[in-house]
Amino acid sequence: MLGRFRLYSGLILFAYLAGHLANHALGVISLEAMNAGMRFTIEPWRTLPGTVLLAGGALVHVFAALRSLYLRRTLRMPAWQLTQSVLGLLIPFALIGHVLATRVLHELFGVRGSYTTELIALWLLLPQFGVLQAVLLVVAWAHACVGLHAWLRLKPWYAARERLAFALAVLWPALALAGYVAGGMQAVRRSAEASWVESVAAEAGFTLDMIDWVLRWEGRGAVGFALLLAVLFAMRALRSRRAGAGQLRLRYQDRITVTVRPGMTVLEALRAARVPHASVCGGRGRCSTCRVHIDAGAEHLPVPEEDELRVLRRIAAAASVRLACQLRPRADLSVTPLLPASATAADAMERADYQRSEERAVAVLFADMRGFTRLAHSRLPYDVVFVLNRYREEMAHAIESAGGVVNEFVGDSVMALFGLDGDVDSGCRQAMAAARAMFERLEQLNRTLAAELDEPLRIGIGIHAGPVILGEMGYAKLKGITVVGDVVNTASRLEEMTKRFDARVVVSEDAVAHLGEDIAGWQRHEVEVRGRLGTMTVMTPDAPPSDHPMPAS
Ligand code: FES
Repeated sequence: MLGRFRLYSGLILFAYLAGHLANHALGVISLEAMNAGMRFTIEPWRTLPGTVLLAGGALVHVFAALRSLYLRRTLRMPAWQLTQSVLGLLIPFALIGHVLATRVLHELFGVRGSYTTELIALWLLLPQFGVLQAVLLVVAWAHACVGLHAWLRLKPWYAARERLAFALAVLWPALALAGYVAGGMQAVRRSAEASWVESVAAEAGFTLDMIDWVLRWEGRGAVGFALLLAVLFAMRALRSRRAGAGQLRLRYQDRITVTVRPGMTVLEALRAARVPHASVCGGRGRCSTCRVHIDAGAEHLPVPEEDELRVLRRIAAAASVRLACQLRPRADLSVTPLLPASATAADAMERADYQRSEERAVAVLFADMRGFTRLAHSRLPYDVVFVLNRYREEMAHAIESAGGVVNEFVGDSVMALFGLDGDVDSGCRQAMAAARAMFERLEQLNRTLAAELDEPLRIGIGIHAGPVILGEMGYAKLKGITVVGDVVNTASRLEEMTKRFDARVVVSEDAVAHLGEDIAGWQRHEVEVRGRLGTMTVMTPDAPPSDHPMPAS
């Protein structure tokens, strides 16, 4: 919950800052333009709702940032996040004087400040603070832009607009600084007329002793904030000492074991041990890239809190999946990352249905090459690999061009899935289209390799459809869809039956029911399938004997 408040408060502060900087930019035109712009960019924030929004946003943002700093068990974090955090902690030191001079003087002493009074103070009376305010502008803007970018890059529409955003992020403060300098120089020029400064000050109700007051309280404010930080770091140190040496062990990917100090999140423990792990949002519970599968120890885990639950629901994660950045183990734990450490914002958005580990109906095609064992024994290894690679290439093209996904190649066998992005009806039609394309491509390949082969390559294909468990499993580049279920086993058995029926393709009646094809002339067979109870009906599209006798493998 606080994470979301931090985000919303950051957006409020960004809106204020962007308006403020836009008003600065008007200095390029004139001092009068800057003062006139205040009506739209500054005055609304001085109304009661504007004040509540701005002050509330600032308080919530600072509180959430300090709380997060306290809760962190390690300060090891990605460079962008460290930069943003350090910039964020610097802002209050430079901002206190600005708030006192612009807002508090108005509220307490009735000063009717304007850009003119501000620029006189900063360019003529306290030039060192004039420089500090320019630095503040850059620091606050950089902090805001890094935070905004980290949030926006998880939005699908942002990637196409990232360059525009970057251009604006650079131009906006550049124009603001140009306006600040131009306005300041105008103030300096006009101050040559001795009575001008007095008349501006008198009109605003501003006196020189107010500068002392601002400086005095600014110093106190800066010391107060520094003390607050010192107390926070002292509390962190005390907590670490009390916690003592870590006793929990985190087994990572079944190959690394790291120590988890009490209160640490899984992500913090990994960072402390310098184990790379994906965390696109920096551990703020937004991106889901840090998600891990709990291999062991789930029974001791705390239930997910609201922020974590929201993200887990968004990605439709299984119960065994948790966010490493939100998970604080209470006992030994074993986890496997679900995304590689190099995961990007695009991976965070990638949420195809089959990545959810769900049950759904698909068509499964299983193909196997006939006589491959004989071919492998009669050829040099290099030739076998060459033929196999060409064969795989052609089969993959046939499957993919029909709309399927090659699930795996094992030697001369291939398993493909259809209907992942549609329904099982279209999946079955795609599987049949793929089967036809595979035979066409195989014939073409046989012609091409005629000189290399003693006999043409032959394949048998089994197609079945029904519910399977689908999920993305694996790691890094080895990641892929895993499909589990009786349908897979049955499709494989149907492929074996092509020898028995001397057919090129055996299709289950379940798959045929989804085809919507004219099946007149197809042969029906009642068969028993190893691993299944009872019999099932299968069909062979091409009447035996097939055009090519198929030698047994
Ligand atoms: S790092 Fe982004 S959700 Fe955990």
